[in-house]
Amino acid sequence: MAITPFIADHPLIQHKLTLLRDKNTGSKEFRELIAEITMLLCYEATRDLPLKEVEIETPMAVTKTQVISGRKLAFVPILRAGLGMVDGVMQLVPAAKVGHIGLYRDPETALPVEYYCKLPNDIANREVIVLDPMLATGGSAIDAITQIKARGVKNIKFMCIIAAPEGLRALQDAHPDVKIYCASLDDHLDEHKYIIPGLGDAGDRIFGTK
Ligand code: URA
Repeated sequence: MAITPFIADHPLIQHKLTLLRDKNTGSKEFRELIAEITMLLCYEATRDLPLKEVEIETPMAVTKTQVISGRKLAFVPILRAGLGMVDGVMQLVPAAKVGHIGLYRDPETALPVEYYCKLPNDIANREVIVLDPMLATGGSAIDAITQIKARGVKNIKFMCIIAAPEGLRALQDAHPDVKIYCASLDDHLDEHKYIIPGLGDAGDRIFGTK
């Protein structure tokens, strides 16, 4: 059984998502909105980080209080649109490391070809959150997570802005241990594998390449 996905219903996320979807939103605002929504999702995705007690001195008293303990994080954006989510997560977790992974499907064999992969050396000892704004067919996410698991990573989460039901199901079937975080579960994929209603091509809108 796959882990139940987290689908955000927070008013701030829904409001920002509306602005993000709007075709009249330009690249600068689009990038800012992606960063803000990612930050709000990251707040949820890090909810289970363990704490430990420490003693500190405020200007008034010595007190026991909590800091995040142990578990180290790495974020892995899937090239290229995943890059748009890095700013948001790094603002919340500045000590995290960032790996990058780029894949495409060989049109002849339909097998994933990894054209770029640079991950932290100690990735196997980290909790990894994979980033890609659009979970459409699920192909890239499934392949990226398979590659990351092959490097010994045990604890993986996947964070996107919009998921299609088809991609959500495919990712859950392939990697039932991976919890999925998204701001919206949309309606369906069209014949070109774009998410409907979606927001168009996330990479093009982030980088202004249309
Ligand atoms: N990738 C995108 O950028 N948009 C979609 O709708 C689907 C995949």
